[in-house]
Amino acid sequence: MKTTVRIGIDGKDLELPTVVGSEGERAIDISSLRKETGYITLDDGYGNTGSCRSAITFIDGEKGILRYRGIPIEQLAEHSNFIETAYLIIYGHLPNRAELRVFSDLLTDNATIHEAMRHHFEGFPADAHPMAILSSMINASSCFSPELWQTSNSDHFESHAAKLISQVRTIAAFSYRKSLGRPIIYPNPAYKYTANFLHMMFSEPYREYPLKPEFVKALDLIFLLHADHEQNCSTSTVRMVASSQANLFASAAAGVCALWGPLHGGANQAVIEMLEQIRQSGDDGRRFIVAAKDKTSGKKLMGFGHRVYRNYDPRAKIIKKACDELLAAANISDPLLDIAKRLEEAALNDSYFVERRLYPNVDFYSGIIMRALRIPTQMFTVIFAIGRMPGWIANFKEIMEDTQSRIYRPRQVYVGPTANDYVPLEQRD
Ligand code: CMC
Repeated sequence: MKTTVRIGIDGKDLELPTVVGSEGERAIDISSLRKETGYITLDDGYGNTGSCRSAITFIDGEKGILRYRGIPIEQLAEHSNFIETAYLIIYGHLPNRAELRVFSDLLTDNATIHEAMRHHFEGFPADAHPMAILSSMINASSCFSPELWQTSNSDHFESHAAKLISQVRTIAAFSYRKSLGRPIIYPNPAYKYTANFLHMMFSEPYREYPLKPEFVKALDLIFLLHADHEQNCSTSTVRMVASSQANLFASAAAGVCALWGPLHGGANQAVIEMLEQIRQSGDDGRRFIVAAKDKTSGKKLMGFGHRVYRNYDPRAKIIKKACDELLAAANISDPLLDIAKRLEEAALNDSYFVERRLYPNVDFYSGIIMRALRIPTQMFTVIFAIGRMPGWIANFKEIMEDTQSRIYRPRQVYVGPTANDYVPLEQRD
C-alpha cells in the first residue's frame, strides 16, 4: 500500500511518498522537494539520509542486528568462511558447489599481479604506510586491464571482481615484504584464500611458514566479519565514485582511502596504539577514560561508539570470544587484552558512555587477534580493506545494474561571501 506524508512549507501543502524497506525501515522520498518548494534538506554527516536502496546488508543498530543478504552474522561466523560469504554478498545467494568451485578457481587464477607491477613497489619508501601503497596499487592495477576503459563496467565483471578480491591480498602481502626488505613470496595455488595470505606474508624462500589452523581460522573470521556494513564512509565513497561510471578498480581504490581514517577502518590501529600508550604510562585505564570524556583533551576511547549501533556491535561480541579462544589455544598472554577488558568494563559502567550508548565496536578486540598472528599494527587497516572488498564490489554492482542510477551529486547551503567585485592587485594594499 502506497503511503504519503504531508508537510506544510511557506503556506503550501506538499504530499511526499514514503518508502518502506523489507525490514520495516521507513523513509520519506524527498526527490520532488526542491522542485516543488525551493528547499533542500540539510543533514550534517548524513545521519538521517538514506543515500540509496540496497539489498545487501541489514543493520538494526538499536537491537545490535547485522545480516548479510538476510543471514545473521552469527550464523555466517559459525558455519561459513570468508570466500563463501564474499560470494553471498556479491551475488546475493549462498553458492552451490559448482558456483563455489568456479569462484574459487577464478580467485586462484587471478592471485598473481602483473610482473611489471612489482617494480612499482620499488618506488615507495621502506616506511610507507601500507594503506597508501594499497590504494595506489589497486588503482595502478587498472592499467593492466585496459578493457576497463574500452568496455562497459558490466562486461567482464566477474573476472574483475575475482581479480580484485584475490589481488588485494597479494598486494597487501607484497607491501609488507617490501617494508621489511624481504623477497616477495608468490601465492601458492595449493592454499586456500586466508592460508595463502599468511603464506605470502610470513614464508621465506628457504622456509615455509608453518600454517596453524587456529591462526587461519581467526584471520578468516576477521575477514568475514568485515565483509560488508551497509552505507559506511568507505562504501559510500565507493558508490559515489562508481556513480560517475568510473571503473571497479578506481572505485575500490577510493574506498581504501576513505577507510584509512582513524574514525573508520584506521580505528583498529588506533586502538592498539591507545592500549600501548596506556600500558607505557602505567595507567590502569582510569586516567584515559577521564581524558576520553573531556572534549578538550583531543582523545577518544578508540574502538568505542558507532554511528548506527546504539547497542553492543554484534561483530565485537564474536571477535571478543574468538580473541579469548585464540589466545588460550595458542597459549599467548597479551597484557593489552587485560587493559582492553578493564577499559571496557570501566566504560560500560560510566554514565558518560552509558547515556550516549557507546559500546565496543568491531575494532576494539580485532587488533589483539592480529597481534597474536604477528601482523604488524600498520597492516591492521589493510586487513580490514581485504575483508571489506566483497562489500565494496557488491555495492559497485548494485549501482552498475540499477538502470535508474544517477550520478551522486549532493547540494549544499552556501554560507560564503555574497557577490563582490574583483579588486586588481595594485589596489589591494
Ligand atoms: N569516545 C568518547 N566519546 C565518544 C566516542 C568515543 N569513542 N564516540 C562518540 N563519543 C561521544 C561524542 O563526542 C558525542 O558526545 P556529545 O553528545 O557530548 O557531543 C556522543 O558520544 C555521540 O556521538 P555519536 O553521534 O554517536 O558519534 P558519531 O556518529 O559522530 O561518530 C564514531 C561515530 C564511530 C566516529 C565515534 O563513535 C568515534 O569516533 N569512535 C572512535 C573511533 C572508532 O572506534 N571508529 C570505528 C567505528 S566502527 C568500524 C568502522 O566503521 O570503521
